[in-house]
Amino acid sequence: MQLFIRSLCYLYSLIAASCNAQEWQDRRFPDDFLFGTATAAYQIEGGWNADGKGENIWDRLTHTKPYVVQDMTNGDIAADSYHNYKRDVEMMRELGLDAYRFSISWSRILPNGFANQINEAGIAYYNNLIDEMLKYNIKPMVTLYHWDLPQKLQDLGGFMSPLFPVWFEEYARVAFENFGDRVKLWITFNEPREICYEGYSWTNKAPLLNISDIGTYYCAKHLVLGHARAYHAYNNDFKPTQNGECGITISVQWFSPLTDSEEDRFETEIRMQAEWGLYAEPIFSDEGGFPKDFAERVAKKSLEQGYKKSRMPEFTDQEKDYARGAYDFFGINHYSGFFVSATEYKTVNPVPSFLDDEDNGIFRPAEWPASASPWLVQAPKSLYNVLTHLQNKYKDAVFYITENGWAQRKEEGLLDDKRITYYRAALNDVLDALESGVKLKGYMAWSLMDNMEWLEGYAACLGLYEVDYQSEARTRTPRKSAFVYKQIIKTRLIDPDYEPDNLTMWIEEGH
Ligand SMILES: *[C@@H]1O[C@H](CO)[C@@H](O)[C@H](O)[C@H]1NC(C)=O
Ligand SMILES: *[C@@H]1O[C@H](CO)[C@@H](O)[C@H](O)[C@H]1NC(C)=O
Repeated sequence: MQLFIRSLCYLYSLIAASCNAQEWQDRRFPDDFLFGTATAAYQIEGGWNADGKGENIWDRLTHTKPYVVQDMTNGDIAADSYHNYKRDVEMMRELGLDAYRFSISWSRILPNGFANQINEAGIAYYNNLIDEMLKYNIKPMVTLYHWDLPQKLQDLGGFMSPLFPVWFEEYARVAFENFGDRVKLWITFNEPREICYEGYSWTNKAPLLNISDIGTYYCAKHLVLGHARAYHAYNNDFKPTQNGECGITISVQWFSPLTDSEEDRFETEIRMQAEWGLYAEPIFSDEGGFPKDFAERVAKKSLEQGYKKSRMPEFTDQEKDYARGAYDFFGINHYSGFFVSATEYKTVNPVPSFLDDEDNGIFRPAEWPASASPWLVQAPKSLYNVLTHLQNKYKDAVFYITENGWAQRKEEGLLDDKRITYYRAALNDVLDALESGVKLKGYMAWSLMDNMEWLEGYAACLGLYEVDYQSEARTRTPRKSAFVYKQIIKTRLIDPDYEPDNLTMWIEEGH
């Protein structure tokens, strides 16, 4: 029917002025589609050492090497959500959210990483937040790990240690035991690529290890096994009574061959395997284990470089079975896209290194709209392409978009029309994907409010709400995009011409 109407519209538009006005009104998000926003503990909570919280790797990094953060800031106070959670929930009600994704700070509930010492004040903070949300029927979606490892576990090797999966399961069980009666959507890890590649093989996320030859691969294996242990713990011991779902969130940008050549198409496949396949394939593919083409490339290069075996470890058959199918859903964080070339746009990289293993070039046309963050450029149809690609590849999976959003500079103020353009395009991609049969159950906008954007500090603002860091109360003020998102959630439609004329937020009846 939809197709028929669209064809009709197309025919009609050739003759008459346009029937676009009809079209957006016929494209409705399902009533049970979950609209939400997302945040992460380190980026908003503050209270870095409040009430018994332990030190984590971002506390350590920003306190010992403040110069690595662009504006020399840190998350010690951030948006102070540790004290402002009631205002945060009020904002969720203003927006009319169905769900809110936040992360638990591991060292706030287990100060030194292990379950022998539980910080009751930390447990109470998350209980209060969850209970406040549930009062207003806002579903919690909880990330167990959003990059803030307890420092003690880093000192023991962090994700490089084969013990990591055991530590993670121990922590996950504490979270399931304390919050699982009310939390029904669990995400084990946020963005493994950013944890493993940026944190272990490079220097763009704590702990800045720069172990460029093997860091990504050992981290990836231990992370996947940690995910699987938490998933099975939930599935066996909690799901029967708690009835929730447990998945993982992977950052998936869109990669497209620069030309139609065989080489560019193969390198695009390699790029996808290296960027997100390392983490998705062991869990979501039928074969299990690391992706084949990229594993072969790393093995070949390793031998040429004098290693006795591949720098990329393998999964044993038992480990493959254990991780394969360990999911209830696939969480996607998506922001941008690239063209991939076998020969052009290549950079000079250390040998051996992850980037040398990838061994291809990426490119983005200058006319694609650029945000305030260099990594965040608006690529046409990229979210639609990602969703249909993943559904095609992983036929049994259901999906949530767990992050998507736009960065601006603070000076750009409250009238954030570029963000509105980005969100409307992304949400139209979502509607197209739903029409194509993608099993997508929700969309979490990043972010509810401005926050500590890691090494970019407070220079990049991604919030629907602006945060005034000069004020004691960390006053939150809705940007124009907040009103547009609210209207989309309420009507389940994307009105391309909707202009909020009254920038006062209020809470609708029933929220
Ligand atoms: C990371 O290691 C490479 C060598 O593998 C080196 O060239 C580079 O300077 C290091 N980066 C930093 C920031 O230390
Ligand atoms: C804006 O809208 C709210 C809610 O409908 C209303 O209470 C308020 O008076 C309006 N303000 C202006 C300036 O129109």
